[in-house]
Amino acid sequence: MPGTEETESDVLVPARLLPVAELHLHIEGTLQPELIFALAERNGLELPYSGLDELRERYEFTDLQSFLDLYYANMAVLRTEQDFADMTRAYLERAAAAGVRHAEIMMDPQAHLSRGVALETCVNGVASVLATSEQDFGVSTLLIAAFLRDLSEESALEVLDNLLAMGAPIAAIGLDSAEVGNPPAKFERLYAKAREAGLRLTAHAGEEGPASYIIEALDVLGVERIDHGIRCMDDPDLVERLVDGRIPLTVCPLSNVRLRAVDTLADHPLPAMLAAGLNVSVNSDDPAYFGGYVDDNFAQLEAVFALSEFDKARLAANSIHSSFASEERKAELLEELNGGEVPHP
Ligand code: ADE
Ligand code: ZN
Repeated sequence: MPGTEETESDVLVPARLLPVAELHLHIEGTLQPELIFALAERNGLELPYSGLDELRERYEFTDLQSFLDLYYANMAVLRTEQDFADMTRAYLERAAAAGVRHAEIMMDPQAHLSRGVALETCVNGVASVLATSEQDFGVSTLLIAAFLRDLSEESALEVLDNLLAMGAPIAAIGLDSAEVGNPPAKFERLYAKAREAGLRLTAHAGEEGPASYIIEALDVLGVERIDHGIRCMDDPDLVERLVDGRIPLTVCPLSNVRLRAVDTLADHPLPAMLAAGLNVSVNSDDPAYFGGYVDDNFAQLEAVFALSEFDKARLAANSIHSSFASEERKAELLEELNGGEVPHP
């Protein structure tokens, strides 16, 4: 990961950047303050902040909902395909510099439809950049349509129908937004439909919500991956099940600190999760809001915990194994990581 290493001659050289897959990333959460102002100006929109400093002062969150309020408000600047494309390009450029070699990118279509932005506008804007991401940035990508769990299942079903009807290039569905009070079982029919359509399945669970939501996401929705999942540590039987099933947990350490799911990074359960043999990876969630991209997450983890080279390689290998990429692409990335000799729990 980033940073520097001392050599014998005392010259500082960059530490090796491990190739990783980023599996938990909301494209709308990559909208940096500067781009928010640039898009507002391009679209002739007035922002409720006098300038960058006033906007940045709002990036102080007390819980998930306090973040979501700002996250949805800032999306108002995304109006055209070009806006969605510019945001996506900016993420991929930064992610490539962080060592990301494969990214599975969530977008929230309902958050744009509710503002009067057409499905085609948001999907085509993001997808147009993803289509050539490997050539342009060295990052293979796929798109995940995420559904807002604080809205109805009927709304989600209608949007999924429309995505399928327009032939949107989505590989998977996800479930995000306000977790507590919106358990996975609310979306049983949505996940059944997505499975029938051949889509891969993931869902946020156990971020602020209880360990039982993780169990419900596995048993009722049949998800293959859990986004966050840190609350599994409250339930030893569940930990055993996740370890035995090698079920991927896409953990987002800086997000968990900024949204107060944990008090400080030193209190984060990631080392305990690794020690338990869980299949965890490190992801940035909403990097523009939480103080960093994947490399920043690794750097801060390294500063707080004594992560061994083996642990770091294991986290990178887990991210690649847990991706929805083709077996061929996974093999390519594993080869790049460690000549194919990579640990996997
Ligand atoms: N949408 C964007 N980021 C999210 C998060 N961390 N949890 C739930 N929904 C989200
Ligand atoms: Zn998330």
